[in-house]
Amino acid sequence: MVAQRVLSLSELPEVGAVRVIVDGLPVAVVRDGSGTVHAVGDTCSHADVSLSQGEVEGCRIECWLHGSQFDLRTGRPTSPPALVPIPVYTVSFDGDSVLVDVVGAAVHAVPPTVARRPGVLTVPEPGSVPATSGASTGATTQSIADVPAGPAHKES
Ligand code: FES
Repeated sequence: MVAQRVLSLSELPEVGAVRVIVDGLPVAVVRDGSGTVHAVGDTCSHADVSLSQGEVEGCRIECWLHGSQFDLRTGRPTSPPALVPIPVYTVSFDGDSVLVDVVGAAVHAVPPTVARRPGVLTVPEPGSVPATSGASTGATTQSIADVPAGPAHKES
């Protein structure tokens, strides 16, 4: 799959998001406070809510329903109640056109094996196949308190 034109830069707000559909997937194209354009899954990982209707603060987008924020660079939630990352897609440009490659999500997305149980993350072992059923995949389960806090987990 190749990157697809989704809109022009002039269609994006100065800081904010626009919902587009790419290959049937809802995508939020977001211009952050520094002017960087991102493309992330438009559905909150906590419930079926469009993230593009939320506020953009710095490099995060906030879900309007319960207030979880997601780092636009990694897709990781930086505040509860959402615990599961959203996909991050590859963005490129052709003149004024913004192009998004939804297949490129695997390059940037946080591993999709994060369990949907509150307080628990399932992290794959290096080199293992991402877990889909949790059985015999090499995945380990650890408390969310054991997961090192990176910049995406930093509280503001
Ligand atoms: S629906 Fe997005 S945080 Fe609850």
